[in-house]
Amino acid sequence: MTAAPESSLQIDVFSIFPEAIDGFCSYGLLGKAREAGLVTVRVHDLRSQAGDPRRSVDDAPFGGGAGMVLLPGPIFDAVESCSPPRPLLLLGPAGRLFNQEMARELAEQAASGSGGFSLLCGRYEGVDQRVVDHLVDGEVSIGDYVLAGGEAAALAVIEAVTRLMPGVMGNDASLVEESFADGLLEYPQYTRPSVFRGWAVPDVLLSGDHGKVACWRRAQAIMRTIEVRPDLIEARGGLSPDEVRLIRQYGYAGDLPPQMQGP
Ligand code: ADE
Repeated sequence: MTAAPESSLQIDVFSIFPEAIDGFCSYGLLGKAREAGLVTVRVHDLRSQAGDPRRSVDDAPFGGGAGMVLLPGPIFDAVESCSPPRPLLLLGPAGRLFNQEMARELAEQAASGSGGFSLLCGRYEGVDQRVVDHLVDGEVSIGDYVLAGGEAAALAVIEAVTRLMPGVMGNDASLVEESFADGLLEYPQYTRPSVFRGWAVPDVLLSGDHGKVACWRRAQAIMRTIEVRPDLIEARGGLSPDEVRLIRQYGYAGDLPPQMQGP
């Protein structure tokens, strides 16, 4: 018999497309984590709680307007019939913006005893406000755009949190080095062949000099972040004098506005 994992993550998902959630969570890293008992994903079909033969889960909005609104009844019944792990988060475009910090918070809470969290996938034009006011603990958005429903967003949250759970990633060092771990994007990666269609891998990566490789990677991570996501540099309080020296040494000739330079 295999020993139970130290901390496991339980995620309950409420959706009208349960097969889509369950199917996605059966592949790759999530599938392996489920098999290993590191994560349990339970998917609840909101339609199973519908009160009519047509299994309706939505109706027209009071006051008029386009589209349909998810009924409160099936949602309250589905949640109350299984006491899912809290927090219960509604996926919707009006929520708190999901990011790596929130993924870490959810993973840490689960590892330190909350057990997990639950996700409610919104649909159509919205969810009856009484669900927001009296059932869920918060609302989460994965970006400033509107999806047809919360399922794709729920999958993004599930995958981002699961991979942070102890034991899920084979190599925990990749969690330390990856994008956002230090408020920076990740450095570029290369693999075989060393020359592909005439494009060669940077020499330093073939040099075997681990110190030089580390400096090059750090410089690349900083320069990439300056170019693509300068907001991340500002959010981490700018660059240190050593970091500025490093990227200059690696040929960065661009301007560095004051907000990109640390105190
Ligand atoms: N549902 C619709 N749009 C969404 C978004 N941006 N994030 C989360 N859930 C959503």
